[in-house]
Order: sequence, then C-alpha cells, then structure tokens
Amino acid sequence: MSTSVYLETHGCQMNVADTERALDRLRAAGYAITSSESEADVVLFNTCSIRERASQKVFNRIGELRRSRRATSPIIGVMGCVAQLEGSSIFDHAPYVDLVAGTRATDRLPQLIERVQSGEKPFDIGERGDLETWNVSSAVRHSPYVAFVPIIEGCNKFCSYCIVPYSRGREKSRVAKDVIADIASLRRDGFREVHLIGQNVNSYRPRSTDGLEGVSGATPFSQLLRAVALTGMERIKFTTSFPRDFHSDIVAAMEEHENLCNWIHLPVQSGNDRILRRMRRGYTAASYLKCVDAIKNSSRKLALTSDVIIGFPGETDAEFEDTMKLIERAEYDGLYIFNYSERPGTPSAALADDVTKEVKTQRFLALEKLQRETQRAIYDGYLGREVEVLVEGESTKTPEDLTGHSTCQKVVNFSGSKDLLGQIMKVRITKAKSNSMYGELASGV
Ligand code: 5AD
Ligand code: SF4
Repeated sequence: MSTSVYLETHGCQMNVADTERALDRLRAAGYAITSSESEADVVLFNTCSIRERASQKVFNRIGELRRSRRATSPIIGVMGCVAQLEGSSIFDHAPYVDLVAGTRATDRLPQLIERVQSGEKPFDIGERGDLETWNVSSAVRHSPYVAFVPIIEGCNKFCSYCIVPYSRGREKSRVAKDVIADIASLRRDGFREVHLIGQNVNSYRPRSTDGLEGVSGATPFSQLLRAVALTGMERIKFTTSFPRDFHSDIVAAMEEHENLCNWIHLPVQSGNDRILRRMRRGYTAASYLKCVDAIKNSSRKLALTSDVIIGFPGETDAEFEDTMKLIERAEYDGLYIFNYSERPGTPSAALADDVTKEVKTQRFLALEKLQRETQRAIYDGYLGREVEVLVEGESTKTPEDLTGHSTCQKVVNFSGSKDLLGQIMKVRITKAKSNSMYGELASGV
C-alpha cells in the first residue's frame, strides 16, 4: 500500500498554491493524498510567519498531533515560511519534527520523505528551479471552480515590519505564455474563476515578453491583465496590489474587459506620512488617495479593500487619527486590521514595540467600529440589486444554503439546489449582514 500524506495549510493564498504544487509532486511520486489527519502516514504543515501568532500555530498543532497520534506516530514535516526562516533549528525546539522543507523545497518533498524513512532528519531550505515549472494538475486544486495562479513570487519592497522578503526571497515573475497556458487548461477543466496571485502583482516583470506580443499596456502587469482577459476565462481576480506601483492603466484594462472582476485589494497600512516613511512604504497618504480616486472615478463600480497595521512602533494618537481619517475617506468595501507584530530580523524589530497592548486594542476597536459603519452603508446599497455569484459550496453555518462570491468578492448566501454548484447565477440581495449578504435566486447568467 502506498504511503499516505495529509497536508495542512496555514496562511496566505501563496501557501495554498504551494500546497497544491506539493500535492501534485507527491501524487506523481506515488504517495496517496488523504484528508484524514488521524490515519495519514505523513503529516505536513505548510506554515505562515507573517505575524508571531501565525508562526506559533504550527508548534501548537504539532503538540496536538503528538497527543492524538501517540499510538501510531506519523512522520511530521514542517514546510513553508517558518521552515524557510528557522531551518534546522526547528529540530531543536520541536524534536518530534522529522523533516523541514522551506518555501522553495516543495518539488523535493518526495525525496525528503524517503530520507526520513531511511532514518535521516533532513532539512532543505535551498533554491527552487524556475517558476516555469509551476503547473499543477487540476485534481489537487483547493476548489474545482476557483484556482490560484501565481504570477510573481517573493518581494523586493522590504517594508520595515515585514518578514516576507526573507521567507519568500526576491521577486520572480512567471512568463506570461505559461500563465496563459495554465488558464487555458483550467478553463478546459471547468474552472470558472482564477486569481492571479503574488505579494506584489503590479511589480510583475517577466524576463521575456513571450505571450505579451501585440498586447498593449503601460506596465507589464496591465499587459498581462489584457492578455489573460483574452483567454475567455469567465472571472479573473488579482491580489495583492502595491500602492507605489499601482498604475491607472490597471483600471483602464478593467474598464475594457468585463471578465477582469471589479475588485482591487490595495493595502494602505497607515494613513500617516511619518509612519509610512518608517514603514518604508514609499508613498504618502496623499499619493495613496490618488490611487483611490483613480479607482473610485472609474466608469465601472470597483470594490476596494485594504490592510492596515495598528500600533507600529512610535505610533501616536494623532498619527492613528490620520489612519482613521484615511479609512473614512477611502470607504473600503472590506478592511483587514492587524496589530503590529514584531518579526525577528526585520528593520522595525530594532525599534521599541512601545504601543501598549491596551492602546493597540483601543485603536483596533475604534477602527473596527468605523469600518463596520462604512461597510454597513456599502452593503445596504446592494439591497434589491442583482449580483453575479459563482456557486462554490454549501454554506458552513446553514448547510441547506449555498454560498459563493460575487464578482466584487462579497460573500453571498442563498437557498438553491446543489445542482447549481460551479454555476454562475444571478442573485437578488434581500439582506445585508456585516460581512456577507443573503439573497434569492434571480436566474443563471
Ligand atoms: N505585523 C502586523 N501585520 C503585518 N502584516 C505584514 N507584516 C506584519 C507585521 N509584522 C500585514 C500587512 C500585510 C498583511 C498581509 O499582513 O498588513 O498587508
Ligand atoms: Fe511585505 Fe511590504 Fe512586500 Fe507586502 S510589499 S510582502 S508588506 S515587504
């Protein structure tokens, strides 16, 4: 019988994509993929290090696993960002870990598992080959309808608080021809939506123009958007956009092609210029708001979402007020609020993490309240309107309902037959909640 592998993913979409790549390589090498943690011969954790709490999670999970699998102790492996950053030192503080595979060792997992089976404790934080070898089989994707397609990996920005440039390395872009081929094959396999993903999609800079010939665009990314729109994939979304590299030609491309969905995620992090400078973001509140205006003034109604960090070292009450003002002015459709978390080795770790927990919490709650009010008004504006929903599954809370996302990335639940899974349906919104909407089926699209 073949060795079975259970792989648990923590963190971002890039980790989900890496997990799919890992499952693809493991399957090809003869491993059986299982969704049963309690029976697997090998349990792998794909980890996230973006904030302290995320990077602690894997060690809690390993503890739980050790307790629940005392009788049958499986091989335990740590993959992803925590593995990349901590390397073999993971063996010191988690002696039950059998293998450590960094963010670039995904393709070598089958061999690493073999080495554990022959008595070694291998760790691999070496280089990976080109992104060109990304393609993974549709069978191992996290959804049969929505696929993540990496276009750029890593980050060159070195924002002072962020661990990503160290865990994922420098930016590497995939050649457009391969991205387009991937999307064409996903389309043949019945996928209805793709997300072009990368830490910084607007920095997309492939080393050859293969696949972009004859496509217009002010930046390689806006060229890629137009090229991808021509594949005929029904819904195309992209994350994450970096404000300094955001070009209004992205909005122009979205106005030209309806299948480029009406949603932009453009993290601001702070609304105060001194903090932005200390974060090394390379823009000011005013220049950020110019991007917001370019998005809001579009002839298409584009949804806008953002990330913000509360309590960066030295953030005063007045500086936080600037963030509140910007958030109020930007009228985001959604906002992810994070308490500052000191990451070892980043430049801002040298600054005193001097905003107390209590103040961070107060600011967090104030911002959350403001955003809830903005969101309520935006969501209420959908009442009585029809949105197009890709039906992705059963609602977790009410399994008799179906759930999916609108083109503008809102969660929409409604009652309907399971036969609608994978279809794009028109849903009339009847109820707006704080982070989702409820509606009734209008018709297919
Ligand atoms: N502390 C808190 N939040 C962080 N993020 C990145 N690094 C940190 C950190 N050290 C947040 C940013 C980023 C999102 C993915 O995570 O807001 O946009
Ligand atoms: Fe981190 Fe900044 Fe790069 Fe985003 S742009 S991944 S916050 S360094």
